[in-house]
Amino acid sequence: MGLQIGSLLLPSRIVQSPLAACSDLPFRLVARERGLGFCFLEMVSAQSLTRENAKTRRMLATLPEDRPLGAQLIGCDPGMMAEAAAILDELGFDLIDMNLGCPVKKVVSNGEGSALLKNPALAEKVFRAVRGAVKNKPVTVKMRKGFNDPSGDEAAEMARRAEAAGLDAVTVHGRTQAQQYAGHADWEAIGKVKRAVKIPVLGNGDVLTAQDARQLIETSGCDGVMIGRGGLGNPWIYRNLEEGLSGARTAPYIPSVAERKATLLQHLALQRRYLGDRQAALNMRRITVWYTQGLPYNKAMRVAVCSTMDCEEIARVVAEFFDNLPADAPPPTVPLLLTE
Ligand SMILES: Cc1cc2nc3c(=O)[nH]c(=O)nc-3n(C[C@H](O)[C@H](O)[C@H](O)COP(=O)(O)O)c2cc1C
Repeated sequence: MGLQIGSLLLPSRIVQSPLAACSDLPFRLVARERGLGFCFLEMVSAQSLTRENAKTRRMLATLPEDRPLGAQLIGCDPGMMAEAAAILDELGFDLIDMNLGCPVKKVVSNGEGSALLKNPALAEKVFRAVRGAVKNKPVTVKMRKGFNDPSGDEAAEMARRAEAAGLDAVTVHGRTQAQQYAGHADWEAIGKVKRAVKIPVLGNGDVLTAQDARQLIETSGCDGVMIGRGGLGNPWIYRNLEEGLSGARTAPYIPSVAERKATLLQHLALQRRYLGDRQAALNMRRITVWYTQGLPYNKAMRVAVCSTMDCEEIARVVAEFFDNLPADAPPPTVPLLLTE
């Protein structure tokens, strides 16, 4: 089932969230081959983008098969956000999103990310500036349910302002900034936002299974479901959720040990091709954790991966790990404790 956001028809109502240092091109290519429809780049700073920072430019790398694709901006200066949004528009991304969720101290102390929840008037100026700078494509915002206030009222108020400014959708992560990643996402608060506006609302937080997705939709009435950490090391999740929600499947597809090995090795190969061996070796320290969390004997493998910069050696260690797993090894548990 698709999801209409402004002029853009998304192929599925299950989408992948922006994940800093995770939702890079290799992550997206692996996921797209296995059913991911719409995805976000990692967030990029408006300031770095407008200053033509080379690292930020590299973060925007994409390919024709990596579509449809949204870009997300973080910043709080309306003029700079508009300038950055115009750059992203020109580069051809399909949707431009704004980050009102990042809880990291350094970001919040700059007045950016979730800090904008405390300053609705400035946030609305940013919305209007970005909307005015982007031609004929959807502009959206992703926010936490509040800064300190757990009621969801802050997000509902912000969503009303987003709608008034001409934005096309809002996403709500059902936690406050103060919570960071603790506790459970509050799907009732997402419902409060849904009832406050007519534009589509995507619900986000703690969805790992089709049952979770169904419960989030039933509890909140949200139009789409955004997956965050559940996609890490689990590129099969999107099809499982889509088919679980539609009734096309009653039990999730669980990839075999051989398929998980091949997928992780493909992820490594794509990391090498698009980011280079050095960055690939460093990134594999995290990526192997995603794919092997909860599996027996994973510690020795991780220690070996972390102690080399040689990608051939990493591939050998990873292959050996999976080859030694029993064929009926359980699926890895999703590392929901991983935080930004
Ligand atoms: C490592 C990491 C990086 C993240 N980066 C971003 C980001 O760049 N932009 C954003 O809006 N949210 C970011 N988030 C928040 C997630 O997109 C998502 O809202 C949050 O993890 C809750 O969803 P989940 O329970 O499905 O993971 C990040 C979260 C994590 C764990």
